[in-house]
Amino acid sequence: MINYTEKIPNNVDLGRDRVLQRALEHWQPAYMGWWYDMGPDESHNYEVYLRTAISVEPDGWAQFGYVKMPDYRWGIFLQPRDEKREVNFGAHKGQPAWQEVPGEYRSTLRRIIVTQGDTEPASVEQQRMLGASCPSMYDLRNIFQVNVEEGRHLWAMVYLLHRYFGRDGREEAESLLARRSGDTDNPRILGAFNEPTPDWLAFYMFTFFTDRDGKFQLCALAESGFDPLSRTCRFMLTEEAHHMFVGETGVSRIIQRTCELMKEHKLDDPSDVRALGVIDLQTIQKYLNFHYSVTLDLYGSDVSSNAANYFTSGLKGRFRETKLEDDHVLSETEYPVFEVVSGKIVPKSVPALTALNERLRDDYIEEIADGVARWQRVIDNAGIPFRLTLPHKGFHREIGNFAGHFISPEGEVLSEEAWKKRESQWLPTPQDHAFVQSLMSGRVVELGKFANWIAPPARGVNNQPLNFEYVRFN
Ligand SMILES: [Fe+2]
Ligand SMILES: [Fe+2]
Repeated sequence: MINYTEKIPNNVDLGRDRVLQRALEHWQPAYMGWWYDMGPDESHNYEVYLRTAISVEPDGWAQFGYVKMPDYRWGIFLQPRDEKREVNFGAHKGQPAWQEVPGEYRSTLRRIIVTQGDTEPASVEQQRMLGASCPSMYDLRNIFQVNVEEGRHLWAMVYLLHRYFGRDGREEAESLLARRSGDTDNPRILGAFNEPTPDWLAFYMFTFFTDRDGKFQLCALAESGFDPLSRTCRFMLTEEAHHMFVGETGVSRIIQRTCELMKEHKLDDPSDVRALGVIDLQTIQKYLNFHYSVTLDLYGSDVSSNAANYFTSGLKGRFRETKLEDDHVLSETEYPVFEVVSGKIVPKSVPALTALNERLRDDYIEEIADGVARWQRVIDNAGIPFRLTLPHKGFHREIGNFAGHFISPEGEVLSEEAWKKRESQWLPTPQDHAFVQSLMSGRVVELGKFANWIAPPARGVNNQPLNFEYVRFN
């Protein structure tokens, strides 16, 4: 169970380590300062129907009730330790899992944790203005739930930095509160986390595509031979599932509403559809293209010696590493990556160890494709002949083998000029953004009401009805 009687709720017996406890209690007010500055705008006095973790066991970890977000009990929750756990891959395979940081991997491991940790406050910053344009109280409550949990994920990484990395770790923990999404002087570490999230379609796309990158990175780190990192990530994954649910169902409800009105009015021209006050499917496809392509970049270079080192050192595994049936060392195997050679995209076999970024990206793409197929079913069920497609993975990329090339969503290699000519058909234009934002000029918060551009969800939160008061504004 989680100890909520302490200043910092935890299940790691924090009270026994006074030095660590004091260091974290020192960081806590800085975190609160960050939350007040960069957390959801104007929300500090709202009472929000949130879930809070009460135990890390799968059957009883959430409890629902009204909380003012600054009073949310952020804390440190790790999955229980398995005494028999081993390092399951790489050069140290078969050794007992490490309970302390191996000296030779200290700086690498710190970099991995900082990079993961940096994404957590970044997304809160990206989303902080969206409350003012929410489509319903249900959705407002959901974005706040996502935001407080991203805050907790930051706590999770900061605990590891403080507990295992001494002074450097404490300095990194402070820097995590100093960087700002989109800031020119001190931006967040990864590109997609500096992009604006200007409207709710972007928010749902972000939670579907980019939070799912979070899931895959956490899954790879949950395999880590450094056991505290593994146990932290395992609990974070239970929270991450909700973020992806919000994204998938959010986009799905927008598609559903658009299709309903298209059918009712027997219209399919995008400008006619827009005139009904809903988002045309072509614009949804453009948002999909954007969020998918910037998220693919988060996996890094197709061929990467860093990725190979992380694996061989036992720090970061593959997706579902222990379920895979091979030697878990990968010194003999190969893996296909793609590259552009004289105007054509061609496969190339490379040592599997160096292609681990690409492999994780491919695992991600497989799961994304399933989600997009579920969105497609909403369109098909309405009898509308429109196909949502995932662009080619080389489309609109800035990192890896496709960077610097101009690939169409269909996977043709184009000249820069030809690509630029068609860019406005593929990616949201300023006019598209302006249209989407024109639908979201104010918030919809009457009990049980939903904005015209989105269908209500199938059910409420925690079996509450849709007209439940999910947020009290005070
Ligand atoms: Fe997160
Ligand atoms: Fe998340």
